[in-house]
Amino acid sequence: MTSVPTAATAPAVNDAAAAQPYGAPSVPTPLARKSIGLPRLRDMQAQGEKIAMLTAYDATFAAVADAAGIDCILVGDSLGMVCQGLDSTVGVTLEAMRHHTECVASGLRRAQAAAWLIGDLPFGSYHESKEQALRSAVVLMQAGAQMVKIEGGGWTLETVRFLVERGIPVCAHLGLTPQTVHALGGYRVQGKTEESAALLRREASALQDAGASLLVLEMVPAALALEVTQLLTRCPTIGIGAGNGTSGQVLVLHDMLGMNLGKMARFVHNFLDGAAGVHSVRGAMRAYVRAVKDGSFPDNALHAW
Ligand code: KIV
Repeated sequence: MTSVPTAATAPAVNDAAAAQPYGAPSVPTPLARKSIGLPRLRDMQAQGEKIAMLTAYDATFAAVADAAGIDCILVGDSLGMVCQGLDSTVGVTLEAMRHHTECVASGLRRAQAAAWLIGDLPFGSYHESKEQALRSAVVLMQAGAQMVKIEGGGWTLETVRFLVERGIPVCAHLGLTPQTVHALGGYRVQGKTEESAALLRREASALQDAGASLLVLEMVPAALALEVTQLLTRCPTIGIGAGNGTSGQVLVLHDMLGMNLGKMARFVHNFLDGAAGVHSVRGAMRAYVRAVKDGSFPDNALHAW
């Protein structure tokens, strides 16, 4: 039986590196790797190194994800479902996104982190006009985001161009776009017909031409995601439920830690797996990074369509 350390048995700590409670790193972790920026993401695509992305919503999880080697952190509007208990992401406000982006950015700054930080523009914050999108993007950039994410195809092109021309990097998002779940009739695989697949290919290419520097592909057949990835030489693709042919992967933090009381989506894997010898959040994140980088996650036979 292992015993809990007492004051007498706990290892001594010197004052300079004294342990600190509440999850805060007492001493900033020295930079173990270079900061990730757009050039590095492009290099990774060119060299075929997979990009590991994870969502985070607070300072501590973000810092731990960075320490585990995550390349990009997305403050996703999925926070509406995993943090706020909403049924969809539709109710998430720009103020909620600003708050969580600021929390994550502070955590990354305090840890002298390397990860690239993306803030998700929520439903209704970029739909009226490109000017409204710029105002909303500025809120997230000033909260610490380095890039904003926008859901949608053709109708977002003008907005993407407008933001990029003004120095705001944009991550686009096609396939299952959760903010339009009501219009789509549920969380369903997209691009299954030849017509919808052709539209997705056209929109992906147009988003790259408009200046998008990342593209999330959510719940699309693996073969289509691979085709789009091969088509886009200047815009790495990040898959979620899109098979293992994309330039990188993203998962929602709570999903990959097995924190889901309902039925897990097919594309999710629980990386906090005691049976595989992983007993900590950091260990689970490390296992995720390893599996994304070596191409073993996702397994098309298990996690894709
Ligand atoms: O909000 C989110 O977490 C996302 C990912 C699922 C890509 O958009």
